[in-house]
Amino acid sequence: MTASTVTTAVFPVAGLGTRFLPATKAMPKELMPIIDRPLIQYAVEEAIAAGITKLVFVTGRTKRAIADHFDAAPELERALEEAGKLELAALVRETLPPHVHAVYIRQRAALGLGHAVLCARPAVGAEPFAVLLADEFITPRPGALNPTAALAAAYAGSGRSQILLQDVPASEAHKYGIAVPGPTPSEILGLVEKPAPGEAPSSLASIGRYVLHPEAFDILASLGPGKAGEIQLADAIDALARRGRVGASTLDGRRHDCGSPLGYLGAVIATAARHGDYGADFRGLMAAELAAGGRGG
Ligand code: G1P
Repeated sequence: MTASTVTTAVFPVAGLGTRFLPATKAMPKELMPIIDRPLIQYAVEEAIAAGITKLVFVTGRTKRAIADHFDAAPELERALEEAGKLELAALVRETLPPHVHAVYIRQRAALGLGHAVLCARPAVGAEPFAVLLADEFITPRPGALNPTAALAAAYAGSGRSQILLQDVPASEAHKYGIAVPGPTPSEILGLVEKPAPGEAPSSLASIGRYVLHPEAFDILASLGPGKAGEIQLADAIDALARRGRVGASTLDGRRHDCGSPLGYLGAVIATAARHGDYGADFRGLMAAELAAGGRGG
């Protein structure tokens, strides 16, 4: 391992998921399933495929089920094995492979994404680290590196923090951190959190994947409240970018923003339509629904 190898990933999972109430009253939004795997598991699998071996979950109240999901479940495994359901037993066991370990830190107050990342500092130390927002559901183009692996490779080659960008329509810019473009597409000069309509510096949105130099922690610790009165991760990245310390990659694949019900439905439909077991039948169901014009009967 070299100083530029990224082996730790931070998952901020303390958010309330208000757009999915009452489904998220007692269940973390990160456990909402895309068919048979919860959102957080897709993000964890992306991180592990990128070489991550330490997962730091920044959690809050009502989020204990996330730790349970990645824990051993001996009674369930035994019951499945005794029933001869060995494949299911393996699926349950493998939510976390043995070489990967998880750390859970509670964010005691909802002070923003930047604050959540700062809460992970004692578990990360002075190492570079990835950050993955699980509600950004990303499927790389077949054959392309997954986004965390792509950002980690760019970090290793440059020693600079890295963010993932995607072109979004002007009408959507107010939902994202928007990049101030640099002299080349692989560099940014700033990041503006949720600009007001007409004030976006570009159409390039930051979409929930980061690999950060540990210097980001010092900046986060010095930040006051930003947009919405919260400590914003985008403000720390903006400060680093102004010093020429942030690189960028463009998404090579598809993305669904599962922070909203419509984005979540898009992720379910896109995954189901391509599913090895259910894909063909699902496409038939969709065709029938479309033919009925979405009406009952
Ligand atoms: C967060 C970040 C924002 C980023 C977005 C990506 O916002 O603050 O910079 O563009 O995630 O999903 P949130 O969607 O949590 O409000």
